[in-house]
Parts: sequence; C-alpha cells; structure tokens
Amino acid sequence: MPGDFKVTPWEVTGDIDYDLLMKQFGTLPIDQDLLDRLSGYGDLHPMLRRGIFYTHRDLKWILDEYDKGNRFTIYTGRGPSGNTHLGHLMPWIFNKWMQDTFGCDMLFQMTDDEKFLFKDLSLEETGKMAYENALDFVALGFDPKRTKIIVDTKNVGRMYPIALEVAKRTTFSTAKAVFGFDNSTNIGSIFYTTMQSVPAFLPTVDAGRQVPVIIPCGIDQDPHFRVTRDAAPHLGYPKPSLIFCKMFPGLNGGDKMSSSDENATIYTTDSAKAVKKKVGRAFTGGRVSVEEQRQLGGNPEVCAVFKYNFYLFEHDDSKLNELADKCRKGEILCGECKMCLTQKINVFLEEHQDRREKAKDIVGDMTYDGFEW
Ligand code: TRP
Repeated sequence: MPGDFKVTPWEVTGDIDYDLLMKQFGTLPIDQDLLDRLSGYGDLHPMLRRGIFYTHRDLKWILDEYDKGNRFTIYTGRGPSGNTHLGHLMPWIFNKWMQDTFGCDMLFQMTDDEKFLFKDLSLEETGKMAYENALDFVALGFDPKRTKIIVDTKNVGRMYPIALEVAKRTTFSTAKAVFGFDNSTNIGSIFYTTMQSVPAFLPTVDAGRQVPVIIPCGIDQDPHFRVTRDAAPHLGYPKPSLIFCKMFPGLNGGDKMSSSDENATIYTTDSAKAVKKKVGRAFTGGRVSVEEQRQLGGNPEVCAVFKYNFYLFEHDDSKLNELADKCRKGEILCGECKMCLTQKINVFLEEHQDRREKAKDIVGDMTYDGFEW
C-alpha cells in the first residue's frame, strides 16, 4: 500500500515515500537554488545532483555562517552492531566530500552504548565492532589531523555533563512521542538519545565559542536530532544543521540494505567471490526470458543493480543515462549488467581493503581526547 512504510532510528520497513517522509518530519527540500549555491564551493557531489542527499534543516544558515568566516564542524556517527556494509559507507563518502570541500573539523561518534542497550550484544562486542567500523571510516581518507573518533563508553567523562544538560531538558513524554517508547523500554534506551546530542555541542564547549555544526546522515536519524535541536537554545548552543540522505537499497530490491539479509548485503570485508555470488542473485528489472527482454526491455527503476550504479558506482551521469536507456530498449541484459557491477564493486573493495589495513596504523592517533582502543 502506498504510504505504508516506517522510518525510525531502529526500524526501516516498507516502500519509503521520501517526499512524504520529508513532509512528515518537517524538513526542507534541497532545491535548485541550494544546489546552485553549493556548487559555488566545489564540484557538486553526485549524491546531491541525484537527489540522494535530498533534504535538510538550516543548511542555508550554516552556509551563511561559513561565508562570514565562521567555519562549521561536521558530525556523523555509527552504531557499531556489526560489520560495515556499503549502506554505511555511502553517507560517510559524502561526509568526506564535505570535509574536503569546506576544509572542516570532523567528529565521528561510535555509539557502542546504543547498540548494547538496543540489541542483544555485550559491551565487549559493541566495543570491538566500534574499532572494526572505525577502520572503514578511516580508510575513506578523512584528514587525520582534523578528524576525531568518539567512542561513547571511552569518552563518557567529557560527554556526561553535556548529556545531563540535554536530559534535564527532555521529558519522558517527549521521548515516548519521538521514539515510540513504552513502559517496557529499558531506562538506558530512554537516556541514550542525550548521548547522540553531545557531539553536536562538544565543538562549542571545546572551543569556548559558538561553533556551528552540520550533521550529514540518513533521514532515519532525524528523530534524535529533533530532540537535540529543541534543547539547544535553552542550553546556549547553536542548533545543529542537518543534511539527510535516502537509505541505501538492498540487493534484494528492498529500500534499505540490512544485515538481517546477509545475501543481499555487501560487507567491506567481502571477498571478490562473495561479491560475485551476491550480485549474481540480485533483484533486477529484467523479464522472464531473454527473448522477452530483448523485445520489451527491462525496468531500471526497480532494479537493484541499476540502483547500485546510481547510488555509488557510476559517477558519470551520461554513462548512467546510457545504461538506463540500453536497459529499457533491451540492448543490455541482466547478466552483463551484473558482471559490470561486480567488477566495479570489486575494484572498489580491493582498494578499500588495502586502505583499511593501513588505517590500523593511524586509527590510534584519531581518538577524541586520546583514548586507547
Ligand atoms: N544512531 C546511529 C546508528 O544507529 C549512530 C549515530 C550516532 C549517528 N550519532 C550519529 C548517525 C550522527 C548519524 C549521525 O547508526
């Protein structure tokens, strides 16, 4: 049924209507004016051109501040519940573009506490995953001098006073309304959102002056940052700006890649053989037979293989359009398309895995407050 979808920080299901979601959340579109303005700072990232990062809060304000010489800090994060997959890398790649384009400091939060509270995982497990996930983040090439990684349970001493301030301004009734909690929710989960607010305010606390912060992230994280933004003015901090992306699709044709379907998920540590197998089984917009597809053509709109090109693996717009065109005309078949994509993913992963190894040497120098992993 259209409109029958759910997007929360804990659950994404159904056929997501992203325009409707934007209206429900009350965020604003990244319109042509904003795209034109953004292209004044450097080449527009394909994720902006293609409407993958498509909606925002206070983006104009943060650019105004930047133009006045008040440089922002970028903040994003990850709940370390399992191995990193392509869906996690997508917004991080955009964050890297932001850092390169605007020359900003960056905070990356690993919420090992969150995943301990919300999932059936021990703190030891989420702590270990935080390190593993951090390697993938560092492998993308963030500026090691300008980028700090926070791990909640390690940095809690610095974070706790700020989390408390947010907690005091946030009622149980708000938490229930925003996150759907009830009386059976453990009380750690109710407090947790305050920890996710902290990195939005830390730059101001650390610098001793009002530092604007922008948070590029998946639209599913907006509920947390509504709480953050509500608290901010009462606590004397600027409200963080947000720029949101759509969810990265699964290979099974679903709207979100998820570790709950291993075969439809490509992990950063997958072997070339595993990638070939997974892409080989992907959901496509192909027809039941070769003859029919040659005659009637395929449907790139619903095809996971096409979506992977669109989201991550074909940066060249004219090549992407050509691919869609050929598919619709039946000039290219699914087997060939899958082979091309497999190759692109494997080239990317081979380089990534190499950089991931090298990241082990620098990840120790990139910890917030110098904690030891
Ligand atoms: N809650 C996020 C998750 O489950 C992790 C996170 C913390 C985050 N801070 C963030 C994500 C800031 C995006 C931006 O993955």
